[in-house]
Amino acid sequence: MDNTSTYLFNFKGYNFERSLVKMEIIENVDNFEIRNDDVFIITYPKSGTIWTQQILSLIYFEGHRNRTENIQTVDRAPFFEYNLHDLDFIKMPSPRIFASHLPYYLVPKGLKNKKAKILYIYRNPKDILTSFFHFSNLMVLFEASDSIENFMEKFLEGKVLGSLWFDHIRGWYEHRHDFNILFMSYEDMKKDLRGSVLKICHFLEKDLSAEDVDAVVKQAAFQNMKSDSRANYEDIIQNEIGTRNSEGKFLRKGTIGDWKNHFTVEQSERFDRIFLKNMKDIPLKFVWDMNED
Ligand code: A3P
Repeated sequence: MDNTSTYLFNFKGYNFERSLVKMEIIENVDNFEIRNDDVFIITYPKSGTIWTQQILSLIYFEGHRNRTENIQTVDRAPFFEYNLHDLDFIKMPSPRIFASHLPYYLVPKGLKNKKAKILYIYRNPKDILTSFFHFSNLMVLFEASDSIENFMEKFLEGKVLGSLWFDHIRGWYEHRHDFNILFMSYEDMKKDLRGSVLKICHFLEKDLSAEDVDAVVKQAAFQNMKSDSRANYEDIIQNEIGTRNSEGKFLRKGTIGDWKNHFTVEQSERFDRIFLKNMKDIPLKFVWDMNED
């Protein structure tokens, strides 16, 4: 892929959103100093990033959890390579939580000391594709597609922010032993949010009371996040980035299996064949339907 797309900027073989990426961060990423208590949420786009940002903000910051502070989730758990509000990461107090879509080979080298933690959230890629299709059509900084077919072509060629989904997940999975990383799926979070929050707390070595866990679960539920101005990104997408449709929401449906409302049988079968070919040696469990175990 060349560097000339209006929307994408390719750096070291990986596509960033051109006008949001902070070059000074990605060019100096190797030397970005990692602290032992840093936590990185890593995702391919549309896999549940904002959800996990909210969950970790609620777990780590009492004022976020008990609503005594009105600080946006994106300032609690900022995007690393898209530092939207230009926060000074060097001066940020610990613990720092970052969200990132970076591939394994572009993250700060200090993460390999295995002290800092990485939470990798993955989602079934048919739902990612569906979510990404709507999101790209909504946001002015993304290339719109007139049909799922058209977007599927870009997605399967990796001509989207985040490049090829198969490369992202494979890279992280195959290099998991180089990092202190926990893989969790969007679908597990959806099916058992409390259990997932407890699992995350365990990984992060955060011992919350049952009451605090309840508060996290309540405020991380889709409908509550959707109406929570700290967590729904509305101000950011409408006023800071810009949308093509003022009614469009970042928190769109939040379900498992919406791809069934968008894919034809032929598209679904084609996707299955490509998925099987690319993923047969990756034992991560994928859930495509709400009714699956
Ligand atoms: P949909 O477009 O399928 O609704 P990301 O933050 O990585 O861009 O992912 C966005 C997707 O996560 C959107 O999917 C969004 O609705 C969903 N999402 C965000 N918060 C959620 C929550 N609390 N519960 C379930 N899904 C959530």
